[in-house]
Amino acid sequence: MNDQFSSNPCLTRSQAAETAEDIGSNASQNPTIGDVIATRLARRDVLRGALGVAALAGIAPLALDRALAQSVSPTRFSFREIASGSDEKHHVSEGYDADVLIRWGDAVLRDAPAFDPLKQTASAQQRQFGYNNDYLGYIPMRGAADPSTHGLLVVNHEYTNEELMFPGIGVQQSKAAAFAKMTPELVGIEKAAHGGSVLEIRREAGKWRVEGASSFARRIDADTPMTITGPASGHARMRTKADPEGRNVRGMLNNCAGGVTPWGTWLSCEENFNGYFWGSAAGQPEEKQLKRYGAPANNYAWGKFEERFDLAKESNEINRFGWVVEIDPFDPASTPKKRTALGRMKHEGAEGIINSDGRYVVYMGDDERFDYVYKFVSESRVDPANRAANMDLLDHGTLYVAKFNSDGAGEWAPLIHGQGPLTAANGFASQADVLIDTRLAADALGATKMDRPEDVEANSKTGKVYVALTNNSRRTEAQIDKANPRAENRFGHIIEMAPEGGDHAATRFKWEMLVTCGDHTVSSTGASFHAATTKDGWFGMPDCVAVDPEGRLWVATDGNSAKATGRNDGVWALETEGPMRGHSKHFFRTPNGAEACGPLFTPDGQTMFIAIQHPGEGGGDSIGTFEAPSTRWPDFKPDMPPRPSIVAITKRGGGKIGV
Ligand code: FEO
Ligand code: CA
Ligand code: CA
Ligand code: CA
Repeated sequence: MNDQFSSNPCLTRSQAAETAEDIGSNASQNPTIGDVIATRLARRDVLRGALGVAALAGIAPLALDRALAQSVSPTRFSFREIASGSDEKHHVSEGYDADVLIRWGDAVLRDAPAFDPLKQTASAQQRQFGYNNDYLGYIPMRGAADPSTHGLLVVNHEYTNEELMFPGIGVQQSKAAAFAKMTPELVGIEKAAHGGSVLEIRREAGKWRVEGASSFARRIDADTPMTITGPASGHARMRTKADPEGRNVRGMLNNCAGGVTPWGTWLSCEENFNGYFWGSAAGQPEEKQLKRYGAPANNYAWGKFEERFDLAKESNEINRFGWVVEIDPFDPASTPKKRTALGRMKHEGAEGIINSDGRYVVYMGDDERFDYVYKFVSESRVDPANRAANMDLLDHGTLYVAKFNSDGAGEWAPLIHGQGPLTAANGFASQADVLIDTRLAADALGATKMDRPEDVEANSKTGKVYVALTNNSRRTEAQIDKANPRAENRFGHIIEMAPEGGDHAATRFKWEMLVTCGDHTVSSTGASFHAATTKDGWFGMPDCVAVDPEGRLWVATDGNSAKATGRNDGVWALETEGPMRGHSKHFFRTPNGAEACGPLFTPDGQTMFIAIQHPGEGGGDSIGTFEAPSTRWPDFKPDMPPRPSIVAITKRGGGKIGV
């Protein structure tokens, strides 16, 4: 079990997940991205980060100012930058409104009772907006007069913070202490607060609202019936006592980021699924496979009350989590499908693009220290005229894992049973084994170990692909070289990939560093933002990225705080083109304790939605609790805990965001 979590009662859920990730499960000898970047940067003239270089060289500040003034030209982002910092409120650029659209506990289904945090029940929570909103996707309503003012908003509910949700219990993550204050009723609420929501939303007179009586409204939770499709469906390792066929599973867990397909479905990605299972890998028949996923991590009390979460009682249930789930939001009665062809990992997101030949390509990160970047290429082409023909497109295709070479080239290695090392002799008896043990298969292929891959997203206007690598505090000096002074990569970086010939199905690509994060005015950080980036403009820990309808990149962060970076998390606009490439500008800031998820744009670029996740968590040495959170955002009522919520940002007087 993960003792680092269980033995430390001073960690919130998200801090504990980060700590667990820091242990790292990848024991393979594959090269780290640090090794590769180090080699590359050693050969390159580092133009960005000139300020840091100058500071190193001892150039006087006045000369620096002059050099800066000469190098500055406009970026494509015209908004007024906000101040970085930390307080209990959210802040958005001057001239914009950030309105709360929906909060934890607000009605999703029409029979939802009013939210009462002192009398919460699982039955109420099943009908109300869940906890810790993460991924946001927007699908225009069919036949809408204006696709940008009427649509479906799909929302992941990643995890729960019992210390902020329930009065009087504090942090309960210790299995050693038997989760003493967790009851079946509280676990029932937690399970109902996971999963996702489908909301019908409209913009009228400039303001967004949730349609109260929508026939599309849906809550999905940790008990929603789902089917398992693709190559691992029905495999012996997917069978349980409750499901001897290995094709039906209840619920999705820890759904972090995701994607929306061109045929109007929602891809919701299971991330830290290992945390929900109880027991020990030691002595299990699949000990090696379990350990590669850091499983079981004993982070939740669920195994105390439900056999399927206890590995000693049901050893295969865990194999049924860690997948990409496809959901049809236009049919609330539809059964979500776990698409095993896209691999099993701590899936961050699944943003895709239609390739020039019509095939669908999904880019994915496996968010753990030293894990990998993947893509899936469908076998068939997307049929834009026939939605039904696309509905099982993701069951057939090829999964690839990325190798980043030191010369700026890269290749995608296919995870195909029988090819290369992926044979029965090496423990992969079928394609199902390759997919259930995706990480082990990628190890065998020599994939490049990355610094926690979060979102990976293609820019359809330029064909470039952006990879957010959030941090890797455990990288050692031995894993980097002198040209890359990021032995402890606390702040992360963003890589830009260019598929060969603009072909997203190609097995070769070029890559380069877009930006290494952190305070670029302090040379020891090794950060490389454009030198004209202000003291408010730099950020650490990139997580969600979004390309807006103008083809510009926005970055949301997870892990900044007064203590970590002197600033709360938020959203920054990052220039990718021209002389200002690498210039970053602060647009939105979260309240204390929260990370920013999304961001999401309507097709007209006039609305940006942001999910404010885990507001009120403690920063630094304290833990926010129901009684003493670090903010009571967004209600600021003394008897109301903080509530994860979605905000809709619009420009006063109308117009595109940041233009
Ligand atoms: Fe749930 Fe990788 O962030
Ligand atoms: Ca998160
Ligand atoms: Ca994330
Ligand atoms: Ca994160």
